[in-house]
Amino acid sequence: NAQGNASAGKTKAASCAGCHGEDGNSTMPAFPKLAGQHQTYLVKQLQAFKSGARLAPMMAPLAAGLDDQTIQELASYYAGNKISTNPAPKLPPSDDDDAPAKTPEQEKAALDALITQGSDLYRNGNISREVSACVACHGPYAEGNKPASFPSLHSQHADYLIKSLTDFKTGARSNNRENMMHMIATKMTDEDIKAVAYYISTM
Ligand code: HEM
Ligand code: HEM
Repeated sequence: NAQGNASAGKTKAASCAGCHGEDGNSTMPAFPKLAGQHQTYLVKQLQAFKSGARLAPMMAPLAAGLDDQTIQELASYYAGNKISTNPAPKLPPSDDDDAPAKTPEQEKAALDALITQGSDLYRNGNISREVSACVACHGPYAEGNKPASFPSLHSQHADYLIKSLTDFKTGARSNNRENMMHMIATKMTDEDIKAVAYYISTM
């Protein structure tokens, strides 16, 4: 049963805690939070790491050792936990080394502008570049779509979101169904990716 699965999963998740946090709320921004993610999506990703369909050097050797039952238990455990919200974001350092240092007011204005840009892309997409609106599949609160196994995104680390969108764009991550995310990400600029990732991390 589901409860039995989750409690068996909790015990087995001890070996994941170092990277993903004890309850699936990793504190390190390169490691995705798993807490509150849809169970079917987690199962699909673990199977993809195991088969090699999703390439991830850190996950592959671990997933190789997981049988189907264990994968279900781990996914059930994390899906039943609550994702933690992130602290207020900080503006990423400028790529331009010669750019003059910003005052705190300028920093805040730039961060607000970035998040507004991300929110606009998330809700409306970008017609001129043919970027689909994320809201259509990932939902108004970025809660995802449970029956369709579209992942929940809200409160995920911005750094991980940037990495996954960049990996979809380059094709480094290519197990996505019908290449939906690959098609979308190839139309996104690096600035779009940064803006939408920052916005989603605050949801
Ligand atoms: C990604 C589960 C252990 C590092 C993931 C994802 C899942 C997962 C489901 C995909 C998340 C998503 O798509 O949103 C697990 C489980 C573990 C475990 C069940 C224990 C059996 C670890 C450990 C490390 C690690 C010990 C660090 C050494 C990572 C990294 C990613 C990831 C870096 C992102 C991969 C990428 O960028 O594509 N893990 N994990 N995981 N995990 Fe783990
Ligand atoms: C996965 C972002 C639009 C369907 C993801 C992931 C991110 C993301 C970051 C990976 C989540 C993780 O690793 O935990 C976005 C953004 C969008 C967008 C920013 C808008 C610009 C869409 C749309 C659809 C969609 C319109 C449906 C047509 C999916 C699916 C996956 C996914 C099916 C799972 C792929 C897999 O199994 O690996 N999305 N998404 N997304 N997204 Fe989107």
